[in-house]
Amino acid sequence: MDGLGQGVSKILDKPTFVSKTLPEEEGVATFTGQRKKVAFAQLASPSDLQVASPSRVPSECPHFDQCPGCQYLHTSYEMELKFKEAALCRELLKLKLPTLVPGIHASAERFGYRNRLTLHYDKGQKSLGIVSPVTNQILPIPQCRLPVMEIQKIVAELYATGTWQNAEGPKQGHIEIYQHPTFGMQISFNLPYAHTGFSQVHQSMNQNLINWLQAATTQCNFNDQTFIVDLFGGNGNLSKMITRCSSIHVIDKYDKQALPKSGHPGQQFFSFDLYNDQDLRTLQKNILKKTQTHPLELLILDPPRSGFTKIATLAEAWKPAHIFYISCAPDTLMRDIKELLPFYSIQNIQLFDMFPGTFHFETVIHLRHNV
Ligand SMILES: C[S@@+](CC[C@H](N)C(=O)[O-])C[C@H]1O[C@@H](n2cnc3c(N)ncnc32)[C@H](O)[C@@H]1O
Repeated sequence: MDGLGQGVSKILDKPTFVSKTLPEEEGVATFTGQRKKVAFAQLASPSDLQVASPSRVPSECPHFDQCPGCQYLHTSYEMELKFKEAALCRELLKLKLPTLVPGIHASAERFGYRNRLTLHYDKGQKSLGIVSPVTNQILPIPQCRLPVMEIQKIVAELYATGTWQNAEGPKQGHIEIYQHPTFGMQISFNLPYAHTGFSQVHQSMNQNLINWLQAATTQCNFNDQTFIVDLFGGNGNLSKMITRCSSIHVIDKYDKQALPKSGHPGQQFFSFDLYNDQDLRTLQKNILKKTQTHPLELLILDPPRSGFTKIATLAEAWKPAHIFYISCAPDTLMRDIKELLPFYSIQNIQLFDMFPGTFHFETVIHLRHNV
C-alpha cells in the first residue's frame, strides 16, 4: 500500500497504483492513466478480483467502489490504522535516525465524524456530489457516511428535494455544509473553504489531540517570563488549553477586521502571511525582540499541507526550548523536520487518526532544543 491508500503493483515493469486493492490481491484492473515512470489503474468492482485478501471486508458505504473520498473502507479499521502507521514509518525513515516508533491514537468512530462537507454541483447536468479525478464527472453521494448525522440529513434532503438547483449563482459550483460554533448548521454556496475561519473537522479527535498536547507540554518550563508562539494558529485551537502559560502569541493570516475571539485570556492574535518574505521578516524581528527579555519556551506550528520550509530559520533565531510540529502531510513534515535536526532532538511522535476511512491522518512531532 502506498501513502495514498492505493495498492502498488508492477505491471510491465512500471509501478502501477491500483486504488481500492489490498496487498497480495490478484485480478484484472483497467488503466486509467499513465505517466513516464508510473501508471494508474482501477478495478471495475471487487468481483474482478481472482484472489481477494483475507483482510478484505464488504464496504459499509454504498458509494465506496466509485467514490474518491475514502480509500480504506474495503478493510477493517484495525488494518486501516496499520496501513497508516506503516505509511508514517516509511516517511520517518527519511530522517535516517534509529527506529522511531509513533504512538497511535485511533478514532472512536469510523463514520459520522466530519462537521464540514463540500459537494460540487452542475445545474445543467442536474448532478450533485464529488468530482471523480478519473472521469472529471460528478458522482452522486447521497448516502455518504463520513459527516455527522445532522449533515447526513441535510445531504439526503438536498438530493430528495433538488432545492440546490434553485440557488442563485453560477451553473457549476460548490456547496459547503458545516456546523458553525455559534450559528449551528449552515449551508454556503460558492464561498471559499472554511470562509468563516479554519476549524478542525473531527471534534472528538481534535479534543484528544488537545488533551495530549496539554499533558505533553507539562514538560515545559512556563513562568511569568516565558511565552508561547502558535504559528498557523487559526482560532487558537491548539494553544488555548495550555493554561499554565499566560502569554500566547497566535499567528495566522487573518482578516484584520475579524480577529478570532479567544477562550484563553493570555492568547493574543496577530495577522501575518507566513508565506510572505516581508511579513516573515517583520514577525521574525518582533518575536526576536521579545525573546531578548522573555525566553520562548514553546513553539507550536500546524501549517497547511505544503508545510513550512522557514521553520529552521525561525527556530535558529528564536531558540524555542520545545517545538510541537503538527502536520497532515508526512512528506513535507519530514522535509522540514530534517532541517531542525542539527540543533533539535525528537522526543516523541504521535499519529492521530483525524480522518478515518481516508488516507489522511495528523502527525505530531515533539522536538527539544539540544543543550
Ligand atoms: C491546518 S490549519 C491549523 C489551524 C489551527 N492550528 C487549528 O488547530 O485549528 C492551517 C492554518 O494555516 C493558516 N494559513 C494558511 N495560509 C497561511 C498563510 N499564508 N499565513 C498564515 N497562516 C496561513 C490557515 O488560515 C489555517 O488556520
